[in-house]
Amino acid sequence: MAQPRKVRIGYADKLREIEIQVPENEPAIWDAGAKLKVVGTAVPRLDGGAKVTGEARYTHDVNLPGMLYGRILRSPHPHSRLLSVDAGRAAKLPGVKAVLTFERPDSFAALGETDDSGRPVDDAAKSEAKAGGTRRLLYAGEEVAAVAATTPETAEDAIRLIEARYEVLPHVVSLELARKPDAPRVFPDHPNANPPAVRKRGDVEAGFREAEVTVEGTYTTPVALHNALETHGAVARWENGKLSVWASTQGVFGFRDDLAKFFKIPSGDVRVVTEYLGGGFGAKFGAGVCGVIAAMLAKKAQAPVKLMLDRQEENLATGNRPSSVQWIKIGAKRDGALTALHLRSHGSGGIAGGAGVGGPAWMSYACPNVLIEEQDVLTNAGPAMPFRAPGFPQGSFALESTLDDLADRLGLDPLDLRRRNYIDAPTKALHLEYDLAAKAIGWERRRAKPGPGATPGGSVRRGLGMGTAMWPMYGGPPTDATVTLHSDGTVECICGTQDIGGGTRTAMAMVTAEVLGLRPDQVRVILGDTASKMYSPASGGSVTLTSILPAVRSAAEGARERLVKAAAPALGARSDELELRDGRVRTKGGTKSLTFAEAAARLKTTVISAQASRAENYKGTGAESYGAQFAEVEVDTETGQVKVVKIVAAHDCGRTINRLTAESQVNGGVIMGLSYALLEERVVDDPTGIVLNANLENYKIAGTLEMPEIVPIMVEVSDPANNVGVKGLGEPPIVPTAAAIANAVSNAIGARVRDLPITPARVLTLLVGKKEA
Ligand code: MOS
Repeated sequence: MAQPRKVRIGYADKLREIEIQVPENEPAIWDAGAKLKVVGTAVPRLDGGAKVTGEARYTHDVNLPGMLYGRILRSPHPHSRLLSVDAGRAAKLPGVKAVLTFERPDSFAALGETDDSGRPVDDAAKSEAKAGGTRRLLYAGEEVAAVAATTPETAEDAIRLIEARYEVLPHVVSLELARKPDAPRVFPDHPNANPPAVRKRGDVEAGFREAEVTVEGTYTTPVALHNALETHGAVARWENGKLSVWASTQGVFGFRDDLAKFFKIPSGDVRVVTEYLGGGFGAKFGAGVCGVIAAMLAKKAQAPVKLMLDRQEENLATGNRPSSVQWIKIGAKRDGALTALHLRSHGSGGIAGGAGVGGPAWMSYACPNVLIEEQDVLTNAGPAMPFRAPGFPQGSFALESTLDDLADRLGLDPLDLRRRNYIDAPTKALHLEYDLAAKAIGWERRRAKPGPGATPGGSVRRGLGMGTAMWPMYGGPPTDATVTLHSDGTVECICGTQDIGGGTRTAMAMVTAEVLGLRPDQVRVILGDTASKMYSPASGGSVTLTSILPAVRSAAEGARERLVKAAAPALGARSDELELRDGRVRTKGGTKSLTFAEAAARLKTTVISAQASRAENYKGTGAESYGAQFAEVEVDTETGQVKVVKIVAAHDCGRTINRLTAESQVNGGVIMGLSYALLEERVVDDPTGIVLNANLENYKIAGTLEMPEIVPIMVEVSDPANNVGVKGLGEPPIVPTAAAIANAVSNAIGARVRDLPITPARVLTLLVGKKEA
């Protein structure tokens, strides 16, 4: 049953009270009026010390007695039939304890039904298996065989002794070649170019007729690789038919369920543990082939097996951000009001879909007539996986660049053009974010025409550019959490969720501490373990804190209730006359108090547990998270080198839980977005179909030398769809970074950047083209 509650929503001095329907048993909502002591402050990660000293145990650090090392043999051909695999010599190598070969077409078909990789491979695989056919391998890097041995070196030697025979088939890895009707097909029963997905509102043709100005352009973005610091991998152990896995995953429960289905055992017989995770960024949702092989090897060898991928395998087979080619046309009135937007894109995520880029064009600005056509193109390359704000950095780059072109044509300031097409909402603080970020970057210094850099007279030109971030609210139930109080005063907060790296542990401790009147370091957090039975969704879609903290809060409130009840008689007060503050249980306004431990000692048992489940999102609240990023660059017109000098990133995520980790999340998005803008590109060789830079030497990632000054600005917004009032922040900060940098570069050189990454060669080509034009 829902109950009406009044909440204050909005931001800064724009607050208003509304009435919403809230599920019963929800505690008082932490809205704009809530006075909090811990939540909202800057708390250093509780596990920061463990991380920097190496004490923190990542999957890579898990070593079990009698553990073997797994290694995978991968196909060297971009498209082939696996005719036979002879692992006889490998099996005889001393130290080799298990060998698996994957000739069957349906070797991983059961996984394809369960994981979310989007591989359209499995029906074909199953029918081919039924027909007694050989297995087709669809990209260079697909799994052919695996071994487990007593040392990593022996495993590597064994892999080299396996003789696989392939019939090499015609391949296609180029996005444009794959679309041609006579191109080799990735799937025989399926054209490479899927019919476009179409979404529209209004009448785009009428919108262009209404337009007084139109601008258009074609933009391209490369395939980018996730490159989480920790590669994919797992340590698997079977005991009495039950499977335990330590895994590098952003979803322990999904990983568990994938394994349970693959091995056809109850999910209760699988335990997945992720104490610490070295990043995931969307590529580590399920068990995947790698997780399954680890468990298969452990089963066959009857010993624990560690299987961690190396960087090359990681960058061939575990996911990527699809490429895009985007043609975009925008029509507007002379005052800048958008009348029509048409986006037509195609891109490739290899053997998987997910190349759509239309999110920003669809949602960012007011435009009555929008047509978006997005096409996935299949190629013989590793499957795409979700990657931090899937589709959004690509789409934002094309959209925001075109808007800057439009501003130039209209003689408008680019920021004014954005404001002109603003979609207003009571909980949308974007105007404020524009103000704050524009001020912090010194937007008034932006010149419409290229001008000198910091060193007047040199070849350096300075430019400023901006872009808008938005990300829908995805968090919700189911999530469960437990807070336990021990009679010695120890407090535990338990949720099965994994800390992908954003500081989940610390946030859980902060919310628990807030409710119980403690410091965050007085709360022990237990997470990353399906055996906790406290369900959490995967850490993806910017949902982690949004999903788990409301359950944590409710559990903590339950524990609090039990504690004050136990303490009340000793304080001669009713429990509703007590408050928890500064580690004590006190009478409100009175003088009597007990320490937390003294109160806990009065619990009539050694431990009490309060469990809670997350309620449904409150209707009518919880809109998108927003942000605005402004970049300042210097471009050397002699070398083409782009130096990003400064990025200001103003963002909101509802209630900021931990100011420090929130800023860190923003910094991380900016760093990743900068790297994408300037450096990253997976290169696949057309004739051979081989990825040329599946490593970190030739696949460039921004390092400290490329880092600008980053100024994160958190804007507090009250828009509570849950009792804590938190919204997502993991993804928004990567959305507009490349766009803001590209706009700044275009501003600096007076020519429109249309292709990422913005390499020196591209900048010089643009400058030459400008002279000739
Ligand atoms: Mo993210 S791409 O939802 O991990």
